[in-house]
Parts: sequence; structure tokens; C-alpha cells
Amino acid sequence: MDLINVDYREKIPNNVNLTEDRRVLKALEGWHPGYLDWWKDMGPEGFQEAMVYLRTAVSVDPKGWAKFDYVKMPEYRWGILLAPQDENRTVPFGKHKGEPAWQEIPGEYRAMLRRLVVIQGDTEPASVEQQRYLGKTAPSLYDMRNLFQVNVEEGRHLWAMVYLLHKYFGRDGREEADELLRRRSGSTDSPRMLGAFNEATPDWLSFFMFTFFTDRDGKMQLESLAQSGFDPLSRTCRFMLTEEAHHMFVGETGIGRTVQRTCEAMKKVGVEDPHAIDKVRALGVVDLPTIQKKLNLHYSLSLDLFGSEVSTNAANAYNSGIKGRFRETAIDDDHRLENSTYPVLKMVGNEIKNVDEPALTALNMRLRDDYTRDCAKGIERFNKIIERSGVKFRLALPHVAFHRQIGEFKNVEATPAGVLLDTASWNRERDNYLPSSADGDFIASLMKPVTEPGQFASWISPPKVGIDNRPGDFEYVMIAA
Ligand SMILES: [Fe+2]
Ligand SMILES: [Fe+2]
Repeated sequence: MDLINVDYREKIPNNVNLTEDRRVLKALEGWHPGYLDWWKDMGPEGFQEAMVYLRTAVSVDPKGWAKFDYVKMPEYRWGILLAPQDENRTVPFGKHKGEPAWQEIPGEYRAMLRRLVVIQGDTEPASVEQQRYLGKTAPSLYDMRNLFQVNVEEGRHLWAMVYLLHKYFGRDGREEADELLRRRSGSTDSPRMLGAFNEATPDWLSFFMFTFFTDRDGKMQLESLAQSGFDPLSRTCRFMLTEEAHHMFVGETGIGRTVQRTCEAMKKVGVEDPHAIDKVRALGVVDLPTIQKKLNLHYSLSLDLFGSEVSTNAANAYNSGIKGRFRETAIDDDHRLENSTYPVLKMVGNEIKNVDEPALTALNMRLRDDYTRDCAKGIERFNKIIERSGVKFRLALPHVAFHRQIGEFKNVEATPAGVLLDTASWNRERDNYLPSSADGDFIASLMKPVTEPGQFASWISPPKVGIDNRPGDFEYVMIAA
């Protein structure tokens, strides 16, 4: 039976018939109090009592799954939602291609699957931890609501992964679920598993960059896990993707509105030169070169999340039918890749060159290329905003060799244009490529909270339309006295 609607009479709302699954229900009920403690400790600081206008999923039907209402975040109905099962689904790629999709985990792939679920699961609470102080400097109630919506949904994504751990991985799955509540973003003793999820998100421009770039990496990972031959993972990820779309909307419109405000302010007083940084900053907006530096930082951090360009792990995960490519089923080839190659950008001597590698081991590179194309489209939309305003400036993605900690380029220094540099030159130029501490101080100086309904901070334009079509002066968050 397909379960589309979510039962909210249950303590743990779900569409997986949890009441009939006593063992998993008990395990999740055991995990629940620890989750709430984690949320209260590490969730949005200072707003646990606020009434927030949030959407909650009431169905996994792509049409009309959300219901909006005021809710205190600790009372948000986190649930377990899987996209409906397709009885005829088969493994779409790898050596098991064409076999019926697995409803249970094949024993030989258990360790690999657990690792993928744990890594995905670890990123979800990490981002909530990274963003926990941002409510205090929100540029508007509209933006504050969006932040909290992203936060509660990342919490739900944690639930999604914990459900898989409890249901399919027995005792070690339960231990991993507990560990997900124990690690902390940025901690020296027990940090989160991936680099970008231990970086600080100190201001709202960082938050928008994070949701634009890092949540988009999340989208790419979820897209490739949604192809998995392990059907419950596929169904979980398919529903998560519908939520992820809103996170990227927050990032994209957030950066877009920042860019727009800057251009409008420059035009209004006749500052023509985007590089006249002091003049632009005096208008209470973020200058475009600094936005470019933020973009350089977040893009390069997010590229590291794709791992090494050439990877036998990626090849094994594909060959086994566990993790596919971006939009696998739409690709026109044999979906086995045993005899094909893919061009990989590598260091060859002192030069950056394309080298053909076996397509199976180059899967991380391929996913990263798909990601870059997706990012580039967003950047062009920002450039359209700048162009329309009449300001002469273009934003661009930096070269993939720029500022990398993982993969082919981790031991070299390169400019955003991809020109290799010696260390002394890099050290001299660094602050022209990446945000300096002075840039950080300036952005921090703009982060004054605006909590009057319908009002916005100096550095950001209002959105074109409200959430859930609410009017401009709608009180998206009722902050408790
Ligand atoms: Fe997520
Ligand atoms: Fe997300």
C-alpha cells in the first residue's frame, strides 16, 4: 500500500506505518528525548519560545504537501516521510542493473551503506549548529523565518537518516544514531565529519552563501543517493530533495537581494566604480568585490565535499548499485560504465590538464562538474541583476584549483582564474581573493537585527513575494517577550 499522507496523531508523525513496526518505534522513542535536548542546546539560540510561521509536510504528494502555521520550534512536528514506493522499481545502474530494487540491505553492502547514511546524517545537525546564532542578527522577520524553516527541516533530515539507521542497521545503527547527536560542528574533540560543516557561519551573507553552495552540494548528494538500488534510501532522499529546493531558494534569493540592494544604493548616489570600496560601504551595503570573495570562499569549501576526483570508493558505490550519478535515469548510456572514460582535471607536472580516467573512478569529478554547472546558472542570474541596474561588474565562479584542501589541487596555490602561484605570492594576494578579517568586520558591522514587520536591514532588498503569499508587513516570527 502506498502511504501518501502523514499521520499527525502519532507522537512521531510518519508515513511508514510506524505503529505496526514496534521494534523501530521503540528505538526511535528512545532516541527522541536526546534529539530534543540537542535541539534545545544547539538549535536557534534565543528563539525557542518564539512563534514561527513554519510549513510542515502533511503529505509527500508533490502537489500541496505543506501546511503553514505558527509553531514554537521545539514543538515542531518532525516526522519520517518517504516518497511513495514504486513496486516495479529496479536497480538503475551498476552490476545489479535491472534487478528488483532492494527493500532490505544486501549483507555485502551493509558497511558501505551505513557509511553513506552516517555521512549524510552528520551534515544535517551540523548546519543547524553552524547557524544557531544567526536569529539574533536577522535582517528581517521574513529572513528569520526562512532561517528557522531551513533549521527545522535539517532537523527533519536528521530524523530521516536516523530512521534508516534504526530500521535497517540494528545495534550499530542505533549507536551511530546516538553519535549523530554527540558530535558538534567546530569541536576540537568530536567535530562533524566533513570540513565545510565545521566552518563558522558568522553572518547572514555567509548563511546565504552556505545555503546557495553547500545546500546545493547536499542536493547533488541526495540526487545521486535517490538513484540508489536500496529503495528505502532512494525514497527518503526523494522527499528530502523537495525540502532542499527551499533551502537553495533561500540562498539564491538572499544573495540576489544583497546584490540588488548594493547596485541600487550605488546608482542612487551615483557611485559608478564598484571597486570604490569605501564609498560603497559608506552606503551601508556590501561592495560587490567582497561578495565575490565570499563566493570564492564558499564555492571552494563546497567543492571539497565531493572528495577526490579519482576515487575507488565512488567506483565501488556505483558498481554495487548504491550511489548513482546526478539524474542517472535520464543519462543515455549503458549505466555500467565499465568501458568508458571521463576527463578529469589534474596536476600534470606543473600544469593543470585534462586527463581521461576510467569513468567509474571519475564519478566524484563528474558529480562535481554537474554541481559547477548548476552553480554557474545561479551566478548568471546574479549577473542579470547587476546588468539591469547598469553597474559594470560581473561575478564569476573561481577555478576549481583555487583554495582547495582535498583532491588534485590540495598542494598547490592558484588564483581564482586558475593561474598557479608560489606560496609567497599567494600569501601576498590572499586577501584579494578571500574575505580578509577587515572584510569580516565590515560585514559584521552591518548585521543589525531588524524585527519590525515589513522592515529590512540597509544591506538587503525586500523579497518580491512573501512566504505562503503573505503581505509585506506579515509578522513571520512573533518573538516572545
Ligand atoms: Fe538537509
Ligand atoms: Fe538543506
